[in-house]
Amino acid sequence: MKWTAPKIKALKGGQKIAAMTAYDYLSARYADEAGIPLILVGDSLGMTILGYETTLPVTMDEMVHHTAAVSRGVKGGLIVADMPFMSYQGTLEHALENAGRFIKEGRADAVKVEGGAIRAGLIEKMVANGIPVLGHIGLLPQSVKETGGFKMQGKTDESAHKLLDEAMILEQAGVFSVVIECVPDELAKKITAALSVPTIGIGAGPHCDGQILVFTDVLGMGHGHVPGFVKKFADLKPQIQTALTAYKNAVQESSFPEKPAVR
Ligand code: KIV
Repeated sequence: MKWTAPKIKALKGGQKIAAMTAYDYLSARYADEAGIPLILVGDSLGMTILGYETTLPVTMDEMVHHTAAVSRGVKGGLIVADMPFMSYQGTLEHALENAGRFIKEGRADAVKVEGGAIRAGLIEKMVANGIPVLGHIGLLPQSVKETGGFKMQGKTDESAHKLLDEAMILEQAGVFSVVIECVPDELAKKITAALSVPTIGIGAGPHCDGQILVFTDVLGMGHGHVPGFVKKFADLKPQIQTALTAYKNAVQESSFPEKPAVR
């Protein structure tokens, strides 16, 4: 079964959506074989895989390259490509052209853009041209320079109302689902109740229609900071380091390869 944007949308209020990022063929195959319905080629790859300090330096070419690799590893999951910083904030034509690259060259099924009301026109245009869009509100990693860092959003009544409005505007613009990042649980609950499309939370509590986590965080194999809301479902980093050190020692001590038995 291949997941499509309408099938994900139809999960509203039904089975919870387990979404995850993947960045290459290897991670994509693992995610897809686990039956993950929505696989996001997140621009978080800038930090987790490419070693940048933020997601801001990530380019379209890097994202298309990684999206194509993910697509080669996925049979069932819906592949969503994350539009990187400044690939959609300029003219509608530029944004549409970049979204088209993800579908044509990256073989993605949909794209994700960060932001609320300001993205409404763009989302309408993309959807009208056959490109499904996943919205993203709350903490917006591409806006950290403006907001002053990776901070929880929607803590005041005013900002909570604004986020609720923004979510409803995204729904009207035609998104098939909305990621809500780092907002108080009760606000995510309110937004989830108000929308007819599914919400997918990250650091937004248990009331969303789904959850998304970063591949390297789920497996405990990343090098960077791990947010407090993350649950590691494995702790691979020490195992990988032990295995690699054992290999290095075996080669240096000449215990690998083993000498052939003398006949
Ligand atoms: O880039 C990313 O991985 C994301 C998710 C955390 C939602 O945007």
